[in-house]
Amino acid sequence: MSDEVVLTVQVNGERVRRLIPASRTLLDLLREDLRLTGSKHGCDVGDCGACTVRVDGLPRLACITLAAEVQGASVQTIEGCGSKEAYIVDALDKHVASQCGYCTPGIVLCLASLFDDQADADEAAIREALGSNICRCTGYTKILAAAREAAASRSSA
Ligand code: FES
Ligand code: FES
Repeated sequence: MSDEVVLTVQVNGERVRRLIPASRTLLDLLREDLRLTGSKHGCDVGDCGACTVRVDGLPRLACITLAAEVQGASVQTIEGCGSKEAYIVDALDKHVASQCGYCTPGIVLCLASLFDDQADADEAAIREALGSNICRCTGYTKILAAAREAAASRSSA
């Protein structure tokens, strides 16, 4: 079996094609090869959510995903967020729900995925969606308040 793979993937709407080691993680591809450092390197074992990106719209932990697993898929990182996700960023900002910011990209992408799927997501759905996102700074109260406000603004849009 070859230890290299020709990967073709869309990253934030742009086609990427390159030869990579089969063992390359998606997180290393994004951060080191593509210099998209918004996806954070936290635990590296799938426990903290700091590396969360969206793959074909769904949240995915990039640290435990091989880049080769997303062959042909569409990947969105925080750098690919814009006006469509601004209501989430604005709510986090308003509630001062980001301090060091290390967890924030993963939270934005998890919430974007949730609200795209359920515009009227309730508290239980928000808690479930953010259940794997560890924040060491905020105590979660502000993040949940921001998420509730984002949900309300999304459902009334
Ligand atoms: S760095 Fe991926 S889950 Fe922690
Ligand atoms: S704001 Fe620092 S880890 Fe969440």
